[in-house]
Amino acid sequence: MSSLNLHIVILAAGQGTRMRSKQLKVLQPLGGRPMLAHVLDTARALSARAYHVVYGHGAELVREWFEGAHPGDDRLRWVLQEEQKGTGHAVLQALPEIPDNATVLVLYGDVPLVRAVTLEPLIRYKGLGLLTATLPKPRGYGRILRDEEGAIMGIVEDDDANAEQRRIREINTGMLVAPARLLKRWLPKLSADNAKHEFYLTDIVSQAVKDGVEVTANEVEDNTEITGINDPAQLAGAERAFQRRQAEQLMRHGLMLRDPSRFDLRGMLRHGSDVIVDVDVVLEGDVHLGDGVYIGPFSLLKNATLGPGTRIEAHSVLESVVVGKHCRIGPFARLRPETTLSDEIHIGNFVEIKKTHLGTGSKVNHLSYLGDTTVGERVNIGAGTITCNYDGANKHKTVIEDDVSIGSDTQLVAPVKVGRGATIGAGSTIAEDVPPGGLTVCRAREQKTLPDWKRPVKKKREA
Ligand code: UD1
Ligand code: CA
Repeated sequence: MSSLNLHIVILAAGQGTRMRSKQLKVLQPLGGRPMLAHVLDTARALSARAYHVVYGHGAELVREWFEGAHPGDDRLRWVLQEEQKGTGHAVLQALPEIPDNATVLVLYGDVPLVRAVTLEPLIRYKGLGLLTATLPKPRGYGRILRDEEGAIMGIVEDDDANAEQRRIREINTGMLVAPARLLKRWLPKLSADNAKHEFYLTDIVSQAVKDGVEVTANEVEDNTEITGINDPAQLAGAERAFQRRQAEQLMRHGLMLRDPSRFDLRGMLRHGSDVIVDVDVVLEGDVHLGDGVYIGPFSLLKNATLGPGTRIEAHSVLESVVVGKHCRIGPFARLRPETTLSDEIHIGNFVEIKKTHLGTGSKVNHLSYLGDTTVGERVNIGAGTITCNYDGANKHKTVIEDDVSIGSDTQLVAPVKVGRGATIGAGSTIAEDVPPGGLTVCRAREQKTLPDWKRPVKKKREA
C-alpha cells in the first residue's frame, strides 16, 4: 500500500482523428475493454487517492461509459478541457481539484500498456521524475537534453528541435511525476511561444532546473509499454502485445496454449490444471475452464463455464452457457445463451441449442435445433430433430423426459411434452403430448411407388 497522497491525471482530450473512426479513441477496445479502462486499472493498482481524466469537448460519451461501468467510484473524477491548448494546459485544468501536498502522476488515455511496476519507482521521487526511453527511431518524441555531467536540463519537442538535438535517442514518454505544489507554481507560467503554439507540459523541466528542483529520469525497460495508440495499425500492435503479455501470464499458471500468438482473451479466464487450448481460440467475458478441459481450434467461447474433462471440438461457438463434466461438444456446435448441460452430454456437428437444459448422459449428435426445451437424462435425440418453438409471435416450451429416444427428422411442435421412456418414430411431426413408454409415430401412412412417373423436363424456350 502506498502512503503517498497520489493523484493521477490522465490526459484523454485528444480527438484521435488518425483512427478515422466514429468511436472515440480512448473507447477503442484493447483486450475487449476500452483502452482508457486499462489506464484506470493501472491507477487503481498504484492505490491513487483519485484519478482525474481530462476529456475533450464532445467526449461526454467517455464519461457516460465509465460512470455506467464503475458506478460509485468516487476516486474517478472528470475534468473538461474545453479547448486543447497543449499537455501543460490539460494538466493545469485538473490542478484545482488536487491538494498542494499531493504527488501528481501524469498518464495518457492512449498509452494503455504501461504497467504499475514500471511507475512504482517514479512515484517515489521527491522532485520531478520523468519516464524516459531510448529508441532507435526517436522521431516525433520530445528529446531529453543533458549537460556535460549528464544532468537533465530540459526537453525539446521534435518540432522545435535542431538537427543535432534530433539525433538524441533518449526520449520523453510523456509520463512524469511531480509535487502538486510545484505544478501549481510552474504550469501557470508556461508560454505557447513554440512551433505548435501549445502550452507544453515538458517545459516544466527547465523550470525545475531553474528552481533547483531535482530532475530524475527512469528509463523504461520494455518499449512496448510506452507506445501511444493513434491509428488502427498501432491499435492492432498494442492488441498483440497485450495478448502476448496475458498469454505468458496464463502459461506461467499452467495453461497449455498450443500457440500463444494465436490465442485471444478479451475478458477474464479462470482455469484448472491440464487445460489445453488449441490454436485460434477466442475467449470473451468471464470464462471458467475446469481441470482437463480441451478447447479445439477455431472456437469462440463467451461467458462460459465448463466442468472438468469437457472437450470442445473444433469450430464451436458457445455463449452464456454452463456445461458440466466430461461433455463432448462439437465439432461445429453452437450453444446459445441460457443453455445448461449436465454431465456426460454429447453435442455433435451442426447442432444449435438455445435456452435449453439437458440432463446427464443425453445426446444430440447431428443437425438439430433445440430451443426453450427441457431434456431429461439419458435421452437420445436423432439427427435432424427440430423443436418448433416459435409460432411467429410467441415462444413455447418443449419437455422431453428421461430415457426418451427421438427418431431422426422429428419436428416437435411446442408446447409439447414427451413422456418418460417414449420412443418417437423417424420423420414424425409431434404436435400433441406423447405418453410415457411405447412407440409414437406420425407420418404419411403408406409408401407408394408410381412406376410410370416421369421427371418433369425444362421447357425449351421458343426462338
Ligand atoms: C507529447 C510530449 C512529448 C512526448 C510525447 C510522447 C508534450 C509537449 N510533448 O508530445 O515530449 O515525447 O508526448 O508521446 O507534452 N492532450 C490533451 N489535451 C491537450 C493536448 C494533448 O488531453 O490540450 C493529450 C492527447 O490526447 C494525447 C496526449 O495528451 O493523448 C499527448 O498529446 P500530443 O499532442 O499527442 O503530444 P505529443 O506531441 O505527442
Ligand atoms: Ca502523441
